[in-house]
Amino acid sequence: MLKIVVCVSGGGTNLQAILDAIDSGRITNTRVITVISNNPGAKALERAKNHGIPGICMSPRDYADRETFNEAFTAKLCELEPDLIVLAGFLVRIPEQMVAKFSGRIINIHPSLIPSFCGVGYYGLKVHEKALERGVKVTGATVHFVNEGMDEGPIIAQKAVAVEQDDTAEILQRRVMEQAEWILLPQAIDDIANGRITITDGHVRRVK
Ligand code: GAR
Repeated sequence: MLKIVVCVSGGGTNLQAILDAIDSGRITNTRVITVISNNPGAKALERAKNHGIPGICMSPRDYADRETFNEAFTAKLCELEPDLIVLAGFLVRIPEQMVAKFSGRIINIHPSLIPSFCGVGYYGLKVHEKALERGVKVTGATVHFVNEGMDEGPIIAQKAVAVEQDDTAEILQRRVMEQAEWILLPQAIDDIANGRITITDGHVRRVK
């Protein structure tokens, strides 16, 4: 049984997609043991509570400096002993010491086709604003393993989504969620839980 911790910051629709997929059997062999949010008001915490899953709030704001937060956050994850950490709209940078401790065991969903529209400053709605500004006709979402870089880890899966003529950032964000994120992330977790995805020396392999 794959024990996962899901880290969130806001609405938690990706968390909900994971919980729904577990309930409906689209993700098997997996249990969400804890949800961690950096934002006490995150709707995601409510979603966890409604599912009887423990929710924890840990924000850098509550610590003297970033280093102290990083240590506390990493220590909390070590204490929870997850098999996999899932960043589902988590807008806090993962400390290097945590990446080292959980190498190959942290995944992230990003709302674009990496390497487009990613890296520092590209999160949430901003990603879609930039895609519209640039006038791309196709965007999408990416699930990847997390390394020391920002959105630079090995890619697990991607799905393309069309940009329509009169899209606003909000409309595009919703379409990318519906057509890509809520499908890709549960699928990747199920693949990892059932040994269909592995990572060795930074290379992702899909076992058929
Ligand atoms: C999602 O679109 C996710 O891909 C994005 O934040 C949103 C969270 O929504 N993540 C990033 O931008 C990470 N760089 P949710 O809280 O409803 O799942």
